[in-house]
Order: sequence, then C-alpha cells, then structure tokens
Amino acid sequence: MTGTILGRRLFPATFLSLLVGLVPLTRAEETLWLDALDLSHMRQGWGKPQVNRSIREKPLSIAGQPFKRGVGTHANSTLWIELGGGAERFLASVGVDDAAGGPASVVFKIVGDGRKLFDSGVMKPGQPAKSVDLDVRGVKLLLLSVGDAGDGVNYDHANWADARFVVSGAKPKTVPGPREDPVILTPKPGPAPRINGPKVYGARPGNPFLYRIPATGARPMTFAANLPEGLKLDPQTGIITGTTPPRGEYLVTLKATNAHGTAERPFKIVAGDLLALTPPMGWNHWYAHYNRVTDKMMREAADIMIRSGMADVGYQYVNIDDCWMNAPKYDDPLRVGPLRDAKGNIVPNKHFPDMKALCDYIHAKGLKAGIYTSPGPFTCAGFAGSYQHEEQDARQFAEWGFDFLKYDWCSYGNIVKGDQSLPTLKKPYKLMGDILKRQPRDIVYNLCQYGMGDVWEWGAEVGGHSWRTAGDLGFELDRIFDVALANAKHRAHSRPGSWNDPDYLQIGFIGDARTGGEPKPCPITPSEQYAFMSLWCLMAAPLFYSGDMSRLDDFTLNVLCNPEVIEVDQDPLGQSARVIHLDDERFLMVKDLEDGSKAVGLFNRGEMPAVVTARWSNIGVKGKQAVRDLWRQKDLGELEGQFESTVPRHGVVLVRVGKPR
Ligand code: GLA
Repeated sequence: MTGTILGRRLFPATFLSLLVGLVPLTRAEETLWLDALDLSHMRQGWGKPQVNRSIREKPLSIAGQPFKRGVGTHANSTLWIELGGGAERFLASVGVDDAAGGPASVVFKIVGDGRKLFDSGVMKPGQPAKSVDLDVRGVKLLLLSVGDAGDGVNYDHANWADARFVVSGAKPKTVPGPREDPVILTPKPGPAPRINGPKVYGARPGNPFLYRIPATGARPMTFAANLPEGLKLDPQTGIITGTTPPRGEYLVTLKATNAHGTAERPFKIVAGDLLALTPPMGWNHWYAHYNRVTDKMMREAADIMIRSGMADVGYQYVNIDDCWMNAPKYDDPLRVGPLRDAKGNIVPNKHFPDMKALCDYIHAKGLKAGIYTSPGPFTCAGFAGSYQHEEQDARQFAEWGFDFLKYDWCSYGNIVKGDQSLPTLKKPYKLMGDILKRQPRDIVYNLCQYGMGDVWEWGAEVGGHSWRTAGDLGFELDRIFDVALANAKHRAHSRPGSWNDPDYLQIGFIGDARTGGEPKPCPITPSEQYAFMSLWCLMAAPLFYSGDMSRLDDFTLNVLCNPEVIEVDQDPLGQSARVIHLDDERFLMVKDLEDGSKAVGLFNRGEMPAVVTARWSNIGVKGKQAVRDLWRQKDLGELEGQFESTVPRHGVVLVRVGKPR
C-alpha cells in the first residue's frame, strides 16, 4: 500500500492522519530483534548461535563498544530469513567480537533476493563496528552471511550486534535456505544396450569369481564374452562365475544385445594380488537403519539394487555395518545374547538367523556381500568386536561368503590406552590385512579409523584397499565441500587398489546421524546433492550409497546412477582430481582420465549463483576442445581457450573436456 511507504518515509504519522481525516494509512511499525527469531536455521563453522552474547558466551563487544542485544556467531555463517513483504528496514552494527583472542578476519554480507545489499569488506579484531541500515521493502528472501575472508575460520567470532528489523506487516521468519526444486538433469537411459561399470577388474588367482555385467537398456538382453578358461557367463543374467584364472591379464570384450542393438565394452581381468582396481561401489546400511538393521533389510537392499537399476550402472556390494552381532546389554532384547559360542565363534544376533544363507541370497543376484567388525573387543555401538579372535572371525566371514570387510577402530583405543604412535595404529590393521589375504576368497578391506596417523600413507601397505580419511560425515552433511577438499589433499595416495574414503553418499532418505533416527529426506539441497556425487567421483572415492533403499525416488536415483558421471569415478587411471581455487567461493577440480580427456568440476560454494570459468591453461589443455556436460549428457560444442558456466548456489557443473573426435 503506497500509504505505508509515504507514511513512514515522508510524513510524520500524526500529520498524515490529519491529512486523511484520521484514517490511519500506515500499520504500526514495530521493532523485531534478530535475537528473537528462531536461530536453529543458522549454519556456522563452529559452536552454536548465541542470543545477546558472543560465541564465547560473553557480553557482545566490538572495539570496546558494548552491545546489549544481538547474535553472536562464527564464520562461516549463514542465516536465511523470509521477509514475507512486511519488513521495512534492517539495522545492525557488525564486527569481530573483542573476545575472539586471535587473528580473526571476517566479511559480513547481506543479500536480498540474490542481490548484494551490504558488504563490510574484511573486518579484523579491534576495528569499530560498521553500521548497517538497509531498506528491505520488497525483498522476499534475505541472507545474512559471515565469510572467513578466504583464510580459514580460526578465531572468526562475528557479531550481528543491535540487529533488528523495522516491521509493519508480516513478521520475518528464518528458514533453512532458499527452496530449490529437485530438477532431474539426466535423460533416462535409452532402450539400446549400454555396458557400464569398470573397464579393469582385479581378482586373486584360484579364488571364486563373481561379476554381474552392469548394463542399461531394455530387457530381455543377452550377454556374451570371450572369457578365460575357468570362467563362465550366464547369457541371460550377465553373471560371470567360476574360478579366477592363473596370474596374468585377460583382455575380455563384454557384449550385450537386445531388440534395439548390441553394445561392446573392453573388460580387463587382472588376476593377481590387487583387488578393487577401481573404487568399490555399493550400499551400506548405516545411515539408513543404524541399530535397526535386519537380515530382511539386507535382502531387500539386494533386491532393490537390481530392481532400481543401480546394479546396471555398477553398484555391487550390499554391506552390513555395525549391530549384526550380540551386545552384552542393549535395549533391543533380540540383539542381546552370547557374544561367542563355546568354540569362540562369533554369534550373530537374532535379527540375522543365517549369515551364509544371506550371502548366498546376495550372490545369487550376482552381487557381493560386506560385513563389519572392530579390532577392539566392542564395536562403536557396543557389539562384539574381533579383539583376540581376528583369525577365527576372518575365517568365519570367508566361510559365510563375505566379500568386503570394514574394520572400525572403535574400542581398540581402550586396548592401547590412547597411544596413537604409528606402530600402534598400524598393528591391528596389518594383522587383519595379512589374515584376509590368506582367505580362500577375495575380501576387499576398508580401514575405518578416521584418518589417524595419516592412514593414507600406509593404508595400502597394511593390506587396505580404502581408508576413511576423516570422522563420520554423517554429522557433517553441511560441510560436504570442506570434507571433500580435506580428502582431496591426499590425492597422491589414490591409485588402483588404494582409495581415500571420505565416507558414504547420504542422499534420499537418511536417518539423523546424531540420534540414529528413522530415515527422513536428507537435509541438503538438490544442487548440493549433485555437487556431493560429483566431488566423490572426481576424487575416485568409493561410492557407497547409505540411505533407505526402500524409499529411493527418481531424483535420488538420477543423482546416483548417471553412468557418465560414474565413469569419472571408475576411470582406470584411478586419479583423484587436483583442486584449483579460483577465489574463496569458487574452485575447479580437474581429473585426468585414461583416454587423455579431463573431467572438470566447476564448483560454487557461494550463496548465490556464480559464473565459474575453467581456462584451458588452468586445466592443462590447448586448442580446440570438445566439451560435454556429464549431468545433462549433452555435448556443448568445441571451444577454444576456456569453458564457463553459471553454477548454482552450492552447486556444480561437471564436464568432460577432450580432443574433438
Ligand atoms: C563409526 C563409523 C561409522 C559406523 C559406526 C557404527 O562411527 O565411522 O561409519 O560404522 O561406527 O557404529
């Protein structure tokens, strides 16, 4: 209403009411303090948002000036506020809190509907507060952000002091972030056959061999392959079984035929010591079912891996995490019982009546089975671990038919009384690594000890095929970019049979990692999910989906199952991308691929869409280059000099750049 605007800006209210014969044109203005809003949506790099005090829980103070009210936060911090058309002004005094106690540097920015309204520039401790007084009429969505000025978040204690809205209508309301529609970027696979999955595959001579040829396209489909002696292929299912041939390399051509055509793909079997020549792919129950996991859920996951098409793009392992054993005490009586039988064999709990039958079930589909234990006496959730039963447990896992072991440090820390010296850290992993190599089946070995002792430097030496490089991502989903960039620092250790593991893909329906709650839609935006998958593929990370298989929707499947994106992950060179920082919000990841082309991720961590440029000189190519958008599976033409694109907030554009054919 124009009267509202006129009333506040130009005329004192009394004068205005005289003018219109005592009919008030303006609704009453009131002050709404930022500290009175719901701050649970505030995201920040350290601690929790504080009301009327600094992040250190002291009175707010900037360059000696005390403030009674305001919000204390810590870079990097964001707060999204829906104004609902009722806010007129936003006022505040911003700066670094006096109790920061170190070399802080922050930048306060305010963005309204994608337009920058305020930028404090870099602010340091002792610098007087800067005043903010913004006209926010007409703004629908406001962002208050505090950045780390590009030098990390240490000491970045930031105050939105005296922060308040002048409101005349609907009240501002904080929200989790801008709403984003889950747009499916990738076209559905066509009816003609396309063979997916790794081009190179390691297996140990004389051990059982199992591989289901991943292929998209209309069924029925028949398969053929020139296999070495000892292996046979079921032409209807595409499942290869038998015994791995003697040491050597076998160049196989896989063929798939249906009513729409024939596809071929080279597949090199390397019979030798190394397994996991490309990053393992599969599903792990943890972030979906936690301590609720059952045999039935595992079978269902295997069924869905086939039915959903995940297996047709290369997902293969169906892995049980913690809680399949007994615990001495637990609130589910079916998970309480003897930890071991009279012979010392580990006893699964009542939710897992027959482990061998479960593995057989998974194998019958051409898939593989994974299991979990700890070198300590107990797992992280308090179930029986393998301490002093390592040999017996490994033998048992092999007899049941498991193909993958996650070995989780957990209570081993108590055994060694917190000693984190290298020999102590290596010992239990080497012990199990040696035992696994002696088993009469191929067991891929995943080290889970959260990166202690720079595990990437010695994980392969103790027999590991992959190692977690950090703590549980489950607690840190809003830090995917940070976690990925930290993981990417270990890129030199990424190679066939040796993978840095930044933890599981948690999209779709996942449980709350803090409470172990029932699966709910994941808290990250569609763009963040595309970025998540792209980062993992560029870093050659193991691709384990850890969400509720029974609630996979089209969007989630689209993110998980784009064969051209997965091909980046599974590239035989096994390189983890190098990172090129363009500024504090934009970066590139560049990964060399076996055919001479490069996979390039253009990433934007910022709060607004941004143009990101990949210059040929930066990514190491020259002349005309064919560029293909991998998420959209679309050729973008032959370009000279550079490729640039507008990248969504917290998003990615992923391309393949190579010589024109
Ligand atoms: C640790 C691991 C997780 C999961 C749980 C199970 O936290 O890092 O991946 O295996 O234990 O208790």
